Amino acid sequence: MASSWKAKKSIASLQQEASSGNALKRSLSSTSLVALGIGAIIGAGLFSLTGIAAAEHAGPAVTLSFVLAAVGCGFAGLCYAEFASMIPVAGSAYTYSYATMGEFIAWFIGWDLVLEYALGAATVGVSWSMYLNKFLEHYGMGLPENFINGPFEGGIINLPAIFIVSLLSLVLIRGTRESAIINNILVVLKVAVVLLFIVLGWQYINPENHVPFIPERDPSKGDFGGMPGIAAGAAMVFFAFIGFDAVSTAAQEAKNPQKGMPIGIIGSLVICTILYVLFSYVMTGLVPYTTFAGDASPAATAFAVTPYPFLKQGLIVAILAGYTSVIMVLLLGQSRVFYSMSKDGLLPKVFSDVHPKYATPWKTNLIFMVFVSLFAGFVPVKDLGHMVSIGTLLAFCLVCIGILVMRKKMPDAPRAFKTPLVPFVPIAGVIVCGYLMYALPLESWLRLLVWMLIGVVIYFLYGNKHSKLNKQNKETPKE
Ligand code: ALA
Repeated sequence: MASSWKAKKSIASLQQEASSGNALKRSLSSTSLVALGIGAIIGAGLFSLTGIAAAEHAGPAVTLSFVLAAVGCGFAGLCYAEFASMIPVAGSAYTYSYATMGEFIAWFIGWDLVLEYALGAATVGVSWSMYLNKFLEHYGMGLPENFINGPFEGGIINLPAIFIVSLLSLVLIRGTRESAIINNILVVLKVAVVLLFIVLGWQYINPENHVPFIPERDPSKGDFGGMPGIAAGAAMVFFAFIGFDAVSTAAQEAKNPQKGMPIGIIGSLVICTILYVLFSYVMTGLVPYTTFAGDASPAATAFAVTPYPFLKQGLIVAILAGYTSVIMVLLLGQSRVFYSMSKDGLLPKVFSDVHPKYATPWKTNLIFMVFVSLFAGFVPVKDLGHMVSIGTLLAFCLVCIGILVMRKKMPDAPRAFKTPLVPFVPIAGVIVCGYLMYALPLESWLRLLVWMLIGVVIYFLYGNKHSKLNKQNKETPKE
């Protein structure tokens, strides 16, 4: 029966897996890894959610919401960095749990990551489609409503969302190095625009818009104002940080993972936090935060008060570029997690078949191209964002707990990077991420539960029976 659900993979075998028989190419430098992180991070969270979080929850103190969310991610990021430098294998949180908390938890987290990566890509794909249409409308070429909305939103199908997901899946199949080059270009473009927004907008900040900086608590408006408002805002803008952990899924393709992983994870997180705080400060300074109620493109709204409205189209192009790289890195992360799970026998072999010429797990890419397209094209994504956030926060909590377990069980195993102040950092990570989960709506908790239950059933019907570790342990029983 299900005897191996607690079985753990040894660190030595994982390290050996990473160095020998690695069918993936080691092509990513530390700079590319930082760019990969920024590629996944800056996107819909910043450009769409900042305004809504300010209007509905925190007012100008949305800047502090970003800080709070960054603190949670920072704690988790430090834990990720230790794991990634120690176990440089493609599966990220999934693999770390396999080594520390056993196969079932590993499966659980791998399954959970689908919410972050696949559904994250679908969510951003839909935002991409919205901005594309906004761009085209400017030239009188707006797309018919039926083809930019799914059936639950009064349309038929969201074609641009399917287009971008499919296109990027094909780019990823073509090769990781090629994808990284495209990603680097997109990242330069989007960071340039964020900087431009901050620098040009700074002079037009009206200090009155920042007063009061933290609006008074108003229970009649839900979680608005005061500390609860800042916390609810943080749970919302947390979406903007999702993706830094995707760096760790590319560990097997890093030239020097021991050094590159911590740099990629922490570096991208620090850069984005600084940009986010400045960006949200400028945005809420340009116009009163109440202007952003229900506004899906607050950056464009705020920028309109500067004498540079002609840059608005440029802003939209950069936002499109930004979203494109987010989708690409999330799709990359998804395929690498399933690649690892399949290599371990927990998923069918098709997920780890590597293309003979391009050296990428192309069949996984194709399968997720279809899966993500279905969500992006037909499912209303309004609430999907919350589901993505709750799934990611759960993964972060488990990674933090994993560090505590690892330090206890393998205190002397070599690590190129050590999480500072253990146990404080991992425990604080669990508390802050847990608090952000608590601040998310009940529906997202229910959906998370349903998704995870489906995962548990699949594990016991398939994964547990086909697990390679299980088979090995049966052949050579320990003790
Ligand atoms: N962090 C990514 C975004 O904001 C998912 O779009």
